[in-house]
Amino acid sequence: MTTETRLTTPFTARATAAEILDGVDLTGRRMIVTGGASGIGAETVRALAGAGAEITVATRDPSNAAGLLAEFAGAGPGVVRAAGLDLADLASVDAFVAAWEGPLHAIVANAGIMAVPSRQLTPQGWELQLGTNYLGHFALLRGLHDDLRAAGAARVVVVSSGAHLREAFDFDDPQFERQPYEPWAAYGRSKTADVLLAVGAARRWAADGIAATALNPGYVNTNLQRHLDDETLRAYGVLDEAGNRIDLPYYKTPAQGAATSVLLAASPLLAGVTGRYFEDNQEAEVVAGGREATGGVAAHAMDQAAADRLWTYAERSLTSR
Ligand SMILES: NC(=O)c1ccc[n+]([C@@H]2O[C@H](COP(=O)([O-])OP(=O)(O)OC[C@H]3O[C@@H](n4cnc5c(N)ncnc54)[C@H](OP(=O)(O)O)[C@@H]3O)[C@@H](O)[C@H]2O)c1
Repeated sequence: MTTETRLTTPFTARATAAEILDGVDLTGRRMIVTGGASGIGAETVRALAGAGAEITVATRDPSNAAGLLAEFAGAGPGVVRAAGLDLADLASVDAFVAAWEGPLHAIVANAGIMAVPSRQLTPQGWELQLGTNYLGHFALLRGLHDDLRAAGAARVVVVSSGAHLREAFDFDDPQFERQPYEPWAAYGRSKTADVLLAVGAARRWAADGIAATALNPGYVNTNLQRHLDDETLRAYGVLDEAGNRIDLPYYKTPAQGAATSVLLAASPLLAGVTGRYFEDNQEAEVVAGGREATGGVAAHAMDQAAADRLWTYAERSLTSR
């Protein structure tokens, strides 16, 4: 991943996803947004379909996308459909991949879970946050590789988080089998793995015309916080005494939170850009990482050797399931 010259765009951190695509025509582009039925993903879908793209919302329960489908039914300009996908279950990922037909111009790997309180396992026996946020997306991307290549100039966009800054990937105990499970460590490591996924795909798939990037959407009030209890939310200052959610000043709206995803997935400004990490609609600075880090992308997440090692780990995990 090169960071010699940091890329910039004219968009501020507060730009909305629709503003990013103002004047852009995505007619004929076929895209998948995982977790596209709620939160940042739903606004990603709205903006991409609003610019004319044909979007498949990948969601565990397609009925969750009924509202989005109704918004675009017959009205255009884009098309929105929904398909079942449980990233935590490889049988579901395999079925989704098998059902996909034709070229795929972009995939936004947006689905995620955060801070699951206790160590839970996927049907394959993987820790749930790593299994969902990273290994499920790895399997999905690998399964759809030929469809991405068929598009000619496809884009893979992986939604990470600032939480990656605090946690390098733990190759010695990736599944928390020997150390005590810690919900935030598991989330942070899965989000470092997400950045490394983009770094690995960028190098491996460059010759296939597939670009891969990662991003931090910023803080957005969504369902992601569902695993945090009220006491924790109050401690973070995002829940008042009456139980109402509070948007802190640095919080973005979902439409603002979707902007960087949309920028990387579809803006002509970033055509061909690969192997880079963005936040607030700009390429991020590479920083040391650690508990004090508040922005940028950690060097541990941009490391090509770590990306290769993780790719091998994921491939082995998939074959030994
Ligand atoms: N909100 C923030 O402040 C923030 C900050 C940094 C990063 N992020 C990242 O942004 C992304 C979107 O999160 P959000 O804030 O928009 O939260 P959200 O509203 O909870 O959306 C997450 C989506 O992930 C999907 N999902 C969860 N488990 C899944 C599974 N096993 N298979 C398939 N889909 C699954 C859910 O879709 P279904 O239930 O429909 O299947 C849900 O719509 C996540 O990757 C998150 O880590 C968010």
